This record gives sequence, structure tokens and C-alpha cells, in this order.
Amino acid sequence: MTKTAKTKPTLKDASLHFSVNTIDSIKMTTDCLILPCFEKGELATSAEAVNTATQGEIKRLITREKFQAKAGQSLLLLSVPNIAAERVLLLGLGTKEISADNFRKALSKLSELVKSLPCKDISLCLDDISVKEKNTDWISRQVVEHIGLLSYTSDRLKSKKSDTPLALKKVQLGFNKSALSLAEKGLRIGQAVIKGINLARELGDLPGNICTPTYLAETAKKLSAKNALKLTVLEEKDMKALGMGSLLSVSAGSDQPAKLIVMEYQGGNKKSAPYALVGKGITFDTGGISLKPGPGMDEMKYDMCGAASVLGTMQTLLELKLPINVVGVIAASENMPNGKATKPGDIVTSMSGQTIEILNTDAEGRLVLCDALTYTEKFKPKTVIDIATLTGACVIALGNHASGLFSNDDSLSSELVNAGNESNDRAWPMPLWDDYQKQLDSNFADIANIGGKEGGSITAACFLSRFTKNMKWAHLDIAGTAWKSGSAKGATGRPVGLLVQYLLNQI
Ligand code: BES
Ligand code: MN
Ligand code: ZN
Repeated sequence: MTKTAKTKPTLKDASLHFSVNTIDSIKMTTDCLILPCFEKGELATSAEAVNTATQGEIKRLITREKFQAKAGQSLLLLSVPNIAAERVLLLGLGTKEISADNFRKALSKLSELVKSLPCKDISLCLDDISVKEKNTDWISRQVVEHIGLLSYTSDRLKSKKSDTPLALKKVQLGFNKSALSLAEKGLRIGQAVIKGINLARELGDLPGNICTPTYLAETAKKLSAKNALKLTVLEEKDMKALGMGSLLSVSAGSDQPAKLIVMEYQGGNKKSAPYALVGKGITFDTGGISLKPGPGMDEMKYDMCGAASVLGTMQTLLELKLPINVVGVIAASENMPNGKATKPGDIVTSMSGQTIEILNTDAEGRLVLCDALTYTEKFKPKTVIDIATLTGACVIALGNHASGLFSNDDSLSSELVNAGNESNDRAWPMPLWDDYQKQLDSNFADIANIGGKEGGSITAACFLSRFTKNMKWAHLDIAGTAWKSGSAKGATGRPVGLLVQYLLNQI
């Protein structure tokens, strides 16, 4: 057996405490009072009040420091007289007609800045802030979703934690009394989303020797333990009995057993059809016999980020107790090259009955997903969305900004684009035309598992489309969006935000 560190799944509660209330910017005792400012020297009411209490000190400093208050710019004031707060941070939001983009931009900068401040608590005055086309609940949700990212740190396996740990424990959001209940609603949603995103990040960052298919199944078990989640884990013998020859051809070369993890969340009417999410859970992708080159191969621990996004979304759903039915399916396996491994040229039979010529064992994601998708048909889902770090070609096509979106249903596709825009977790539609299908022709089987270099992300989606003809289906290729490389290496938790938004929009 592979040596596996004895780390058990933990489902940590967020270490940051958020609350909403009315805030008096003069009397508020806090380590840092955050006051919104606008271009041309305009101030929010809360900032105006502090300016008056300090006999114009705020405006003087704005002029002296040439602070323009463009979205994301900020000015930290360390000792402001006549107020209770220890520090004041002026936060630029651009023009007074705040756009959603500017608001988000300012919050990302704020989140970065707060990380390096020694403040245990911060208080944001959002009283008279209105963002174009958005409600108060959107505003409070955005604050929580941006700052809540700080509650995840990737030091779980470091024996010496950071010298500068996050000081922040408490975040207070100030709103007008009449806006408090909406603000509270946004806060609740934001906290649930952050919990899901941070779970997905943690699973993504865990190395392949800890986060195995068994570990993913144990995480699902933890989620189901206290909650209304029905869990079924199919073992290799069960998958064999179902005829999942394609999925099992991927785990054949590994000492870790594959798992098909099935989570059924029933928040809605017993009789209504579920939405299905199917995640690629390759806990490490060596390429198999078609071995990948060495440099950067460590990043193939992230090849289970689709699965992580399904678990993360499930966690958010359970938190919010959404009144819908959702089934999450995870195809979990390693892709390794031992003596029993599948060889290029091998032909296997999928659960659907279609035979597959495996010309490249590194195109394994589609091999596990096709059987998971066929299995999902039994739930007669309203829609099925698979999420997968499927192709390097998708990273070339779209970079790190948008996930690739492929669908056999136009309205599902546009709903996902909208959900991506709303959640700032964008996806961009790619073609799925029949013209590409012939690249998958095989001389010896019904279909080949690769379609050549050209349009690599599209032929991968075409492969999956052969197994989803009876369902309204979409495929998200998250190879470019699920994690960051380089010095900022780490999982992003995408596309939990998009998936949760899609589900919220169904209610
Ligand atoms: N997990 C990879 C896709 C991947 C590669 C994601 C690089 C992010 C960065 C997938 O299993 C894979 O190896 N795909 C091959 C397909 C090819 C053999 C047709 C690829 O993209 O090179
Ligand atoms: Mn691969
Ligand atoms: Zn892979």
C-alpha cells in the first residue's frame, strides 16, 4: 500500500465571526473603522460624521495624501482624534454611483490589506452605500465572501505556523436599521458560500498521499453524519457489477481503490427531480502509462478539484437548507502506472455499452466521468452538470479567468453563464458542434478517448456528450480556474460560487 499520512478529514467552522448592526462611526470601539470614500473628495455619511468630529481632519488628510478614492485605493490613518476607533481606513469606492465591479474590487483590496494589519476586529460602515442594480443582501454577502476567504490558510501540514498569523477574529458590518434584516440574509448566504469554498480549497491543496479516493469518501461521510444527506459509496466490486469498465480502467494501475461517491440531498419535495452535479475526482494524475513529464507534476494533486467543488457545494446547501433536491456524484480514482495499468491501445466497455479505445491513458478524466454520468441517469435529473479539470487545452483557450462551458441545452448554458457573472466565478460558452465528433473515430472501438491536438477541450467535451444524450447536460472544464500556480500556488475553490448561485437561482 502507498504510505498515507494519518490525517482525517476535518470540517472546520470558519474562524471569522461576522455580524451586522447599526454602527455609530464616532462612538464605535473597534481596532479599525472602515469608512467609504468616493472620487472628487466625496464622503459617505459615516466618514462625513468623523470629518466633522475631527474639525475637518479627514478631508485635510485626503488632500495632503492626494488620496483619490478610486475603487480599491485606501488610506490608513493611525491616530484620529475625538473618536473611539483605534484606526481609520478610508476605502475608495470610485464614483458615488457605485458599480458592482468597483465594490468587488475595493473588497478584494480590503481583504488583502486586512491580512497584514494587527487588528482583531474591523468595522465597516456601509450605512448609506448603494450599489447599482444590487440590494443590501448582495452588499453584505459580498463583504463576507471576500473577507471570509481569509479564514482558510494552507498551513495545515506545516509544523511551524506563520510568524504573522491572521489577527482578525471579528468583522462587524454597519447598516441602517431598516436594512438590517436584508443585510442579515446576505450575511447568512455569504457565510455558507465561504464554508463551501474553503472546504473545496482545503481538499484541493491536500497532497495526493493524504487526499485519496478513500479520503474523499470519508469527507462525504463527515458531511452526511450530522445532516440530511444520504450517502452511498460504491466500491470497485460494485462498479464492476454495474459494468463500469471505463472508470475501472483508470484505477487499474493504482494501489488505492476507486470510489464512486453518491450524495443525495433532499431539501425539496420528495417527488421532484434533483439537479445533479458530477465531479472528476482524480486524486493524483501521473498520466498512467502515458506518463506526464516531471516538471510541475505535483500540481496534478489538483485533479480532484471538480470533486472538491461538488463537496463544497453540498456543504453550502446543507448550511442553507435550500428547498431543492440535489444529487452529487464523485468519480474518485488515482491515475497510476503499475503493472496492472491500462495500456495505450487497450479497449474497454463502458457502463453505457459503448466500447472505448484508450489511445492515451492521460485522457483519464473523461473515462471516469462517462461511467459516472451514465450512472447519474438513474436519478432522472432536471439537469446534470459535470465539473472537471479536464484539459490543458482549456487553459490555453481561456486562461485562468473563465471556466470552459459546454452544453447540449441552450437555456442551461445561459443560466450557467448568468450564475457565473452574478457570483464573479465566470464561465464562457464553447462550441459542441457535430463537426468535431469525427476526431474521436476509432478503427477498433465505438470511440477513441482522444481527438488530437486541435480543439482539445472541445473533443473532450464531445466525448462526454456521447454519454449524456438523454439528459440536459453541461460540462465545466475548470483546468484553468480551480487553482493558481507559481508563488501563489493554491486552490481557488472555484466553481463553488457559480454552482451555488445556479442552485439559488432555481428557487
Ligand atoms: N488532468 C489533466 C488536465 C490538465 C492538464 C489540467 C494540465 C490542468 C493542467 C487531464 O487528465 C489530462 O491529462 N489531459 C490531457 C488530455 C490529452 C492527453 C488528450 C491534456 O490536457 O494534456
Ligand atoms: Mn490526465
Ligand atoms: Zn487528469
